[in-house]
Amino acid sequence: MKIAFVSSEVYPYAKTGGLADVSGSLPLELSKLGHDVKVFMPKYNTFGEVEHGLSYRWDIGEIPVRVAGKVHSVHVHTANLPNSIPDLKSNVEVYFVDCPYYFHRYRIYTNDYDEDERFILFSKSVIEILQRLQWAPDVIHCNDWQTGLIPVLLRENYGWDKLFEKTATLFTIHNIAYQGRFSKEAFHKAEIRYEHFLHGGIGEYFGDVNFLKMAIFTADILNTVSETYAKELLTPEYGEGMHEYLQMRKDDFYGILNGVDYNIWNPEIDKFIPYHYSINDLSGKLKNKKYLLEHINLPFNEHIPVIGIISRLIPQKGFDIISFVINELMELDAQWIILGSGEHRYEELFYHLAHKYQTKVHSYIGYNNELAHLIEAGADIFLMPSKYEPCGLNQIYSLKYGTVPIVRKTGGLADTVLDWNEYLAMGQEIGTGYSFQDYSGHALLDTVKRALHDFHLKDIWKKIQLNGMSKDYSWKKSAEKYIQLYQKAINKRKATIN
Ligand code: ADP
Ligand code: GLC
Repeated sequence: MKIAFVSSEVYPYAKTGGLADVSGSLPLELSKLGHDVKVFMPKYNTFGEVEHGLSYRWDIGEIPVRVAGKVHSVHVHTANLPNSIPDLKSNVEVYFVDCPYYFHRYRIYTNDYDEDERFILFSKSVIEILQRLQWAPDVIHCNDWQTGLIPVLLRENYGWDKLFEKTATLFTIHNIAYQGRFSKEAFHKAEIRYEHFLHGGIGEYFGDVNFLKMAIFTADILNTVSETYAKELLTPEYGEGMHEYLQMRKDDFYGILNGVDYNIWNPEIDKFIPYHYSINDLSGKLKNKKYLLEHINLPFNEHIPVIGIISRLIPQKGFDIISFVINELMELDAQWIILGSGEHRYEELFYHLAHKYQTKVHSYIGYNNELAHLIEAGADIFLMPSKYEPCGLNQIYSLKYGTVPIVRKTGGLADTVLDWNEYLAMGQEIGTGYSFQDYSGHALLDTVKRALHDFHLKDIWKKIQLNGMSKDYSWKKSAEKYIQLYQKAINKRKATIN
C-alpha cells in the first residue's frame, strides 16, 4: 500500500507534543509491515537541516503555490526518517515543504494573523509535490486541523487530476480542542468553493471557517487515538461543538490507541539514563532516582516517593484541580519534580512552589527531552490527572519504566491504566496504577494518598510496577489496525467512483 502521512510535527525534527512522537514512529512501523510510506511536514527554521541530513530536491525544483491571492515559491528537501534502531536505515522518506515566508518563524505554531495561510500553503504543497513525483498514494493520512483541508482540496481543487482518482483519505483527530477556526476569508485564501461556507455548510462554524469540521465532513474515514476518547467525542461534554457532526459520521469513525516506540522509551536501552534496568532486575531504578535527585539538587531518601509530572502546562492536563489542593499535596510526605511549559499561571505556580519548598519540589520550566527520560526512570510515581486525554503517551512510557501512574479515568488514560484497588476489590492483582473518575481536587488528593500508602508496602508496590512493565503498547498492533482503516477508506473511495 502507498501511504502519504501528513503532519505538522514529526519527531525528531519538530515537536510540541505527542503528535510528533506518533508521526515519527507510526510511519516506521507501517514501513516495517511492508508498506511504501512518505511523510510530509513543513520545513521550520526551528531545526538544523545539516544536523538532520536534509538534502535539496533539484529534481522537484521550484513549485509555485497560491495562497491568499499571492504565489509563493515552495522548494522541497528530503531526509530519511531516522530509525529508532541504531544503524538501521529506514525506508521512510520525509518531504519537507520549504517556504521561508511562512515557516521561518522560530516557532512551529504561531498566533500570527496568517496562521491559516501557513497550513493552507502546506496542504496545497503536499498535493503539488505528489503531482510532481507522479506518486498516487492509496491513502493520504492527515493529522489534526493543520491538514484538515487536504481532503476537500484533493477532491475539488485538484479533482481534475486523474492521478488522485483512487486516492482515499483518513483523518486522525489527536485533540478536538484545536480546530483551526479562522474568519471567513480563509475560504478565499484557500480558494475553496464558497458554497461550503454558506450557512450550515461543511466548513462553516458560527460564521467562521473551521478546518476540523471541514475534515470531519470530507475525509473518507475518521479516527481518534483511543477507543474511550472516540466514545467521549460523541458527547457534548467532550466534543467541543463537534459531537453532532461526528455523530453524523459515526459509522466511519474509529478509535485506535497510539503505540509507543520502545526503542526510544525503554529503561533497558534508554540512551539518556545512567543506569539501565528491566523487569527482571529493578535495581537500576533506585540508582536513577538517586542520580535524578542529585542532578536537580534535592535530598535523596529511598523511602520518600518522588512524584513526576511531564506536561504541557495547560488546563487540559488537570492543573486546575492540582492548584485547588496544592497546599494539601505539599503536606504529603513526597518529593515533586515538574517538567513543563505553557500557561503563565501554571509556570508561576511551579516556580513559586520550588522556591517555597526547596527540599521537596523542583520545577523545570521549558522543554527538555533528556530530563523527560530521567524523570521517567528516576521518579516513583507519574501524575497525569487530565481533564480529557485523547491518548496520552507519558503514562504509557511510565508503565514501561516501573513508574506507577496516577491518572484521571478519561480517554487513553482510561484505556491504559488499570486501578490497583478497583481490581483488587474483584480479587484480581492486575492493577498497573491508580485512577479516579471525578474531575475534582479531592478525588485527585485521595488517589495520591492511596498511592503513597501503597508505596510503603514494598511487595505490593513491586507487583504494581511489574504489572505495568509487562504491558506491551508497541506500535505493531495499532499499525495493523491503521492498515485496516486505510483499507476501509480505499474501499469507500472505490465505491464512490463506481
Ligand atoms: P500531548 O501531546 O497532549 O502534549 P502526550 O502525552 O501525548 O501529550 O505527549 C507529550 C509528549 O511530549 C511526550 O513525549 C512528553 O515526553 C513530551 N513532553 C511534554 N512536555 C515536555 C517538556 N517540557 N519537555 C520534554 N518533553 C515534553
Ligand atoms: C494530542 C493529545 C494526546 C495524544 C497525542 C498524540 O496531543 O493531547 O493525548 O497522545 O495527541 O496522539
